[in-house]
Amino acid sequence: MSSQVNHYPGIFISFEGIDGAGKSTHIPFISQRIQERFPNKRVLLTREPGGTPLGEKLRQILLNDPMDAKTEALLMFASRQEHLSKVIEPALLASDIVISDRFTDSSFAYQCGGRGLGIRDLNILERWVQERSFQNNHFLLQPQLTFLFDLSANVAEERRRSSRTPDKFEELDVDFFNHVRNEYLRRATEDNQRFVIIDSSQDIQTIQHQLNACIQQL
Ligand code: TYD
Repeated sequence: MSSQVNHYPGIFISFEGIDGAGKSTHIPFISQRIQERFPNKRVLLTREPGGTPLGEKLRQILLNDPMDAKTEALLMFASRQEHLSKVIEPALLASDIVISDRFTDSSFAYQCGGRGLGIRDLNILERWVQERSFQNNHFLLQPQLTFLFDLSANVAEERRRSSRTPDKFEELDVDFFNHVRNEYLRRATEDNQRFVIIDSSQDIQTIQHQLNACIQQL
């Protein structure tokens, strides 16, 4: 394995965070800023689980039906395989900019951190689905930039309670989300070149300022 990056000509960015940490508030802002920064490029906004017709069907099942934790992980990666092969890779090959609302870090955070699956098992799935060869580079396809919206599980729960009807994951308790958050932070420490951690307890303007500064460096 030579590297954990994206050797395709396009730019791949992901957004991560526990439910209620504010991803959905900031994604429209950032996509617009990225489009302004790269006016001649196509900016594709997509999401996981989902992003393809089959992936969206899997999303409905994943967000509503109770299932074994391994089944959940396998379906997340099934949706991801479809997403990569049908949407993300063709776009990156065409030099587009892909912004994904969640990617593999969510599987580590929720299925390992939250559900308790082994990291080594998910490493195997990650390699199976994301290893690529392109122009003599052998690599693990990852976003080159991941924004992690970080917030305490307690505050995130309060925000969720006041804003939406919970899906299967959002109903889980603070303890679950503490574990999810810790796994996100572990991944971020392990791969600190790729991650930008945003403190989601700050006000919207401060966060937008930070996001803007990151985009200018792309
Ligand atoms: P989310 O992206 O937060 O959508 P919404 O804002 O509409 O609620 O919801 C997707 C849920 O799926 C979220 O709770 C995290 C979970 N998830 C996983 O458990 N593993 C994964 O690999 C992915 C991509 C998502």
